[in-house]
Amino acid sequence: MNIGIDQIGFFTPNKYLDMVDLAKARGIDPNKVLTGIGQQQMAVADQTQDIVSMGINATLRYWDRVDVRRVGLLIVATESGIDQSKAAALFMKQALHLPGAVRAFEVKEACYGLTAAVMIARDYLAAHPNQTALVIGSDIARYGVSSSGEVTQGAGSISLLLSTKPAILALRAEHSNWSDDINDFWRPNESPFAKVDGKYSKEVYLDFFTKTFKTYQAQTGFNGNDFSAIVYHLPFTKMGFKANQLALANLDKPAQTMLSEHFIASKQLAMRVGNIYTGSLYLSLLSLLERATLTTPALIGLFSYGSGAIGEFFAGELQAGYDKRLSPADDIAMLDVRQRVSVAEYEALFELAARPPKANQVLTSDELPGRWYFAGTKHGVRQYRQQ
Ligand code: CAA
Repeated sequence: MNIGIDQIGFFTPNKYLDMVDLAKARGIDPNKVLTGIGQQQMAVADQTQDIVSMGINATLRYWDRVDVRRVGLLIVATESGIDQSKAAALFMKQALHLPGAVRAFEVKEACYGLTAAVMIARDYLAAHPNQTALVIGSDIARYGVSSSGEVTQGAGSISLLLSTKPAILALRAEHSNWSDDINDFWRPNESPFAKVDGKYSKEVYLDFFTKTFKTYQAQTGFNGNDFSAIVYHLPFTKMGFKANQLALANLDKPAQTMLSEHFIASKQLAMRVGNIYTGSLYLSLLSLLERATLTTPALIGLFSYGSGAIGEFFAGELQAGYDKRLSPADDIAMLDVRQRVSVAEYEALFELAARPPKANQVLTSDELPGRWYFAGTKHGVRQYRQQ
């Protein structure tokens, strides 16, 4: 039985910061950010966009094509949680009019969370083949103003509908994991900002990629030449470039050329959005599918990484007609219509959004009509509204 991705939706808030503006303000050579880090723009979430509103907005990108009565499972993956107890999935379930019978919860393991949700959903659908599963990764990457990680911030959400008739990507059953208790990146309860050992985190990422990619090939008999593309978790696009260089070693020349070109296609959205943590790998997949000319069947490798840390390499087979499920022009338009904010505006928005709003304060949004937003709290309960 084929199980995999049937629908994909992406959302990022309506404001961004240009990375050259940020580099100049911080006294950094812009080329360090543009080529050394590989980022051009960074999404900025104001106080009215959080993981719930972004997740709803990402899902609404395709929701009118979905039979909500068949959705049996809803999992939200995040490391920017808005409550220690209640799952973000329950706020979203309400907004998306999902039936009461849906199993809805939240999962966490840094940026790996959405892959964990995908794997749970795959097993769920094997047991319930007539149902579908909605999995959403939604995050705001915050390291802090003037921190070393500042240039790798971002905000956004990816929503995936999985089914037993996947129109986009059928997931293969094999997978290769590596996990270890390490401290490369974490966010303690008392801090709105991530703590990171930046250089160490890059080393661990590459080490876990090497281990899982090698083991995957040994287990499956595939080798690098069999892949049409490999997509990566992209905390910043240079990170994925480095992993892709490792993947290219010892491949045939045509395979090297193809994997290099397809990596370039896969990083285009992330370059303009920044790190969206859980959704980042799937944003790379979306970018690849929207920009590369891929002939089916095509084997696509996926490398998921979550600090703390866990890595997973797995793969999927691209389905004929996959492009009918994509809206590349709408994704570009969403980026193009964003407001460019100055560094001073970004700093003010950032500091405000990182703290809880005042009790019972009603927040209004300047998002486009139809988009959901966080409208403040009422008697301590978070309120969500549609613009
Ligand atoms: N022109 C061009 N390139 C330049 C340059 C210039 N003038 N100056 C420096 N560079 C290059 C450097 O050579 C370097 O390239 P290489 O990596 O190829 O050597 C690159 O720019 C970055 O330089 P530094 O490493 O010195 O940069 P930094 O000290 O400012 O830190 C960072 C970069 C570690 C990524 C930091 O931004 C950070 O901590 N980010 C958050 C952590 C992170 O994203 N880690 C990734 C792995 S963990 C993960 O994947 C989970 C997750 O989502 C967080």
